[in-house]
Amino acid sequence: MNVRPVVLASETDLAGWRAQARALLLEGLPPGQVAWSISGAERDLFTLIPEQPDSAAAAGNSAGAGPPVPRRFIALAEDAILHSDPARLAVLYHLLWRLTHGEPKLLAVAADPLLRRAEVMAAAVRRDIHKMHAFVRFRTVTDDDGEMSVAWFEPAHHIVEKAAPFFVRRFSDMRWSILTPRRCAHWDGEALSFAAGHAGGEPADDDAIDDLWRRYYASIFNPARLKPKAMRSQMPQRYWHNLPEAALIPSLCRDAPARAEAMVKAAAAAGLAMTAEPGPKEGPTMLLETEIGNIDTLRRDAAGCRACPLYAPASQMVFGEGPVPAPLMLVGEQPGDQEDLTGRPFIGPAGMLLDEALRDAGLDRRAVYVTNAVKHFKFVMRGKRRLHQKPNAIEIDACRSWLQREIAVVAPQTIVALGATAARALAGRDLRIGTSRGRSLTLDIHHDVRVTVHPSYLLRLPDERARAQEYQAFVADLAQVAQLAPLAAVRS
Ligand code: URA
Repeated sequence: MNVRPVVLASETDLAGWRAQARALLLEGLPPGQVAWSISGAERDLFTLIPEQPDSAAAAGNSAGAGPPVPRRFIALAEDAILHSDPARLAVLYHLLWRLTHGEPKLLAVAADPLLRRAEVMAAAVRRDIHKMHAFVRFRTVTDDDGEMSVAWFEPAHHIVEKAAPFFVRRFSDMRWSILTPRRCAHWDGEALSFAAGHAGGEPADDDAIDDLWRRYYASIFNPARLKPKAMRSQMPQRYWHNLPEAALIPSLCRDAPARAEAMVKAAAAAGLAMTAEPGPKEGPTMLLETEIGNIDTLRRDAAGCRACPLYAPASQMVFGEGPVPAPLMLVGEQPGDQEDLTGRPFIGPAGMLLDEALRDAGLDRRAVYVTNAVKHFKFVMRGKRRLHQKPNAIEIDACRSWLQREIAVVAPQTIVALGATAARALAGRDLRIGTSRGRSLTLDIHHDVRVTVHPSYLLRLPDERARAQEYQAFVADLAQVAQLAPLAAVRS
């Protein structure tokens, strides 16, 4: 049997993958006869690649329209293709093949192992992007143009290109570089560009970041391609003496011929082409399963939380519930009386109304992860009754790290804040529901966050007509979310 080698331009070449897959489908080549790989093209500082490179053109973008593919699959592929598992390209092509060869409803078969594998990959990628946004810490180095910021980060997947625009939005007026072993991102105040990864390591302090920057600069310097003219055009010579890395330039230039010769000899001895780059060390899928198991550890840890006084009178901590990973997460305020007694979120009157609204909006609660901003029930006693009390800002903020860690593990594409308490927990500040409703919030965390009312608000409305109207508006908000997180929609 002949196997067709298909080579993509880069690890993140979605457009190339789509064009190739389309051409292969039109040709009728089954998944078992395709061997996917990534080209080992070398890239360095002086061939910085602009944002969003792809090999679609090379793949034959004009290969014809190809069979129609559900939007849901495209959304899944966009994330899963960034996973570090080399099998992801084949997994996606296999899914596409089945979708277009007699299994058009495949995406509705939640238990299908191949679909599950792709969904787990996509969720891991989203989680990795979230971590990068949350944990990158810039340190300052100084050059002739003033201060610039450098950070080190070790992503598990090929997420640097997708995660970088977030830093452009947040830090548009400073120059920065984020170095990672997979890819390095550079923002010069005007343009975002990417270069090959760097084998550095977490810098312990400001001196270490200087050192890291120098080593990075030395490592991207390819003596076989010494082009002082190009170097000068990228970085005018008058700046060289001020840059930490510039101290290296004279010796790098002097040693270039000898180093180039040594590289050729070493490559020849190893039987390698000069352009061959070592492939990234791939993280096995098993690691993901371990990470996903962390929801149990998190729940156990949260059960012992004493960060605010609410734990004392409550019966128990009420943690989130639902699939992990999940495409959609709903965040409520805090457990009510029944939730406190049973240990499960949203099972009382507000929960029943929520279930009904989810159904009316075409969402399947079983596919949704449901949790609360505050994990203990806050109440006052009135006779024998426990009356709900709104948590204050201190209590919300004390619980916030549990929610953030839950989000990192569950890795939802879309998060919905039900009411003002959830909105505050997600945004880290008070938000007005009226003005935030229906819009996508740009928060520190990288997820599509939407705000709507809390179902208890509907239950409290005294006027029946107003309640019916507000209920319809609530369902409309959730229906909008169903479009954003189609994998949580009721399976048809
Ligand atoms: N209200 C909430 O916000 N959460 C629950 O779990 C129940 C009621």
